[in-house]
Amino acid sequence: MLFTSIAAIALLSRGINANAVLRFGCSQIVVERLDPLVNPDLNPSPHVHQVVGGNAFSALIPQADVSELANCTTCSFSEDLSNYWTANMYFKARNGTYKRVPQVPNRFLDGETGGMTMYSHYYTSSYDNSKVTAFKPGFRMLAGHQDQREAGGGVTKWNAICFRCYNAPNFGGDNLAPCADPSVDSVALPAKQCPGGIRTTIRFPTCWNGKDLDSPDHMSHVSYPASGTFESNGACPSTHPVKLPQLMFEVIWDTASFNEPDLWPEDGSQPFVFSQGDDTGYGQHGDYVFGWKGDALQKAMDANCFGAACKALTSQSFADANKCAVPKEVSEDTEGWLTELPGMAM
Ligand SMILES: *[C@@H]1O[C@H](CO)[C@@H](O)[C@H](O)[C@H]1NC(C)=O
Ligand SMILES: *[C@@H]1O[C@H](CO)[C@@H](O)[C@H](O)[C@H]1NC(C)=O
Repeated sequence: MLFTSIAAIALLSRGINANAVLRFGCSQIVVERLDPLVNPDLNPSPHVHQVVGGNAFSALIPQADVSELANCTTCSFSEDLSNYWTANMYFKARNGTYKRVPQVPNRFLDGETGGMTMYSHYYTSSYDNSKVTAFKPGFRMLAGHQDQREAGGGVTKWNAICFRCYNAPNFGGDNLAPCADPSVDSVALPAKQCPGGIRTTIRFPTCWNGKDLDSPDHMSHVSYPASGTFESNGACPSTHPVKLPQLMFEVIWDTASFNEPDLWPEDGSQPFVFSQGDDTGYGQHGDYVFGWKGDALQKAMDANCFGAACKALTSQSFADANKCAVPKEVSEDTEGWLTELPGMAM
């Protein structure tokens, strides 16, 4: 089992030169129209999100130590009470109605229900002498621009955010590092049918200004490296000198269940659209509210942990993780054949 998971992570981390990486799954805790980072205390928020992590998720998450507000998590590391969320993907039928695209577990993470995979890459001193500092309580950030509808926009300068179009069932074509294989990766939503579904990858900035836990746009307190990437050991800009772990999400969208040619648009366009009304894919975005307990994340980094098992951390089975829940605050259907995307009526 241990060998299997190490081999699996080595495979999945191919092309990523990080010495150490936590890779673990978190099941979905709720799907609803709330966004405590961008629209705090607004119920409902403008578009639907799928959320994983701790049960402190709510329309308003006080900017406090979230690990003290939550008491369970859908993540397999029980000390990770953070919240992570993204927009949802919907399929638009020929008759104009929308159906939410189901999410399925990532490779080697069976038991996770409809959630996301979290990667936290960090260097150890054996690889790179510059210190990587864990996030501080109250820290939060956003990656991607929900209104982006064309190439560019800053975060895509080195493909921080992309899709992988699996070319066969069971993760076909999943051979190179995320966003590094032009034969299966794109920044826009794939224009063709993907027989194994579509994966979202969202890499967050890894450089911090060292003082602000958040900023008005939830981005300017952090930065991508001045050049290169975290994995290529690119330096942080002088304005944001503190190196953070590389947080990366993956979400697997089971688009293959909609791959009937008769269901696709007659004009040859692709039928998938994100919950903020984005059918280009350039507007995909991810939100992070840090909530690891105490110094658990720093301890895992210092222990050089690798994969989904870490002696410095406590793990729980998905059977237990899946018991963690938050009550739904927004009463609206996000699941049936919907006549409009929730919140997107013109
Ligand atoms: C756990 O958290 C929930 C939601 O915040 C709260 O209602 C519940 O009382 C807490 N339970 C315990 C045992 O602390
Ligand atoms: C719209 O199309 C979908 C997919 O073909 C179908 O399941 C649904 O029942 C249709 N809805 C209406 C109102 O015709």
